[in-house]
Amino acid sequence: MARILVTGGMGYIGSHTVVELMQQGYDVTIVDNLSNSNVDVLEGISAIVGRRPEFENIDCNDFVNLEAVFKQYTDIVGVIHFAASKAVGESVQHPLMYYRNNLGSLITLLEVMKRYRVCNIVFSSSCTVYGQPDKAHLPVDETAPLQKALSPYGNTKQINEDIICDEAHADADLHATILRYFNPIGAHPSALIGELPNGIPNNLLPFVTQTAAGLRQELKVFGDDYDTPDGSCIRDYIYVVDLAKAHVKAVERMLSKQSEQQVEIFNLGTGRGLSVLEIVREFMDATSVNVPYRVVERREGDIEKVWANPTKANTVLGWKADTPIKDVLLSAWNWEKRLRNIQ
Ligand code: UD1
Repeated sequence: MARILVTGGMGYIGSHTVVELMQQGYDVTIVDNLSNSNVDVLEGISAIVGRRPEFENIDCNDFVNLEAVFKQYTDIVGVIHFAASKAVGESVQHPLMYYRNNLGSLITLLEVMKRYRVCNIVFSSSCTVYGQPDKAHLPVDETAPLQKALSPYGNTKQINEDIICDEAHADADLHATILRYFNPIGAHPSALIGELPNGIPNNLLPFVTQTAAGLRQELKVFGDDYDTPDGSCIRDYIYVVDLAKAHVKAVERMLSKQSEQQVEIFNLGTGRGLSVLEIVREFMDATSVNVPYRVVERREGDIEKVWANPTKANTVLGWKADTPIKDVLLSAWNWEKRLRNIQ
């Protein structure tokens, strides 16, 4: 069976994708420097799948060691590139670190891929590239105009998309699938892998589950005076396992040479927007656990409302994110309970 190299495969979306790939019969080599993950994730993946992925503790910016991986695993047929720093606030504080890490790792990877004639890459991008779409572009499809990034993190996603397109233009053999994720949430139903935020979570769901677990006193809802039905911001929350499955579809499409263009772009979302207050209510309904919350000032740089038009992914990839939100929220809670030893 074919081998897929997964950079950042120990991380949140990466680990769920490794599971789905292996369950479809692929062999997987993970390259990860554990900068925002830990080695126990390997145990979780192995317990779910019943076999172990190969793991190389390597930084993607390290050409020599990355090249050694391609030399060792001669059956690599494609790469999924997740490895990147992703904290928006930190990227504003340390832009050079973000540009070096996120751009350098993709460039290094593409160089090594070219040398070893591996010519399929799936790139992990974000709906952040659309900024706040105007009314005419909501829900957002892939033709919506991109907007100037609000953070160095967001800018690295845009620049990396450009790097891929430029390289594909120069190298007719290269095929790339750019996946623009909306807001991934939840955890594997086994509760053996999930999201492991560093310190105080920035993202909504980990903050909700940590508040439910008693680690945080209350959730701060950032603003209820937006132009939305209940005044809180709207996002398209997508189950991480559904998202992971889209990567397998993308890989299969490239390997079977079905892609019509060298670079294909897909929005990955559910097509449904939920507000912060709706998420909190749905979470309490699904889990019967109270989440104390308070509405506070808006968070600087927040987008008011954005959700996907996933028609292209639905039809072309033959993929749909259809896990009910209650199940998704329950999976997030089961993971948090396992982390905190809550019965
Ligand atoms: C954020 C990033 C985005 C990145 C994405 C990765 C910002 C401004 N945007 O997106 O660039 O691609 O994470 O997952 O940081 N909320 C609260 N209270 C909280 C936390 C969040 O009310 O404690 C609200 C936010 O205001 C927002 C929603 O929950 O309306 C979702 O927030 P979050 O999970 O941080 O995702 P994004 O803002 O969509």
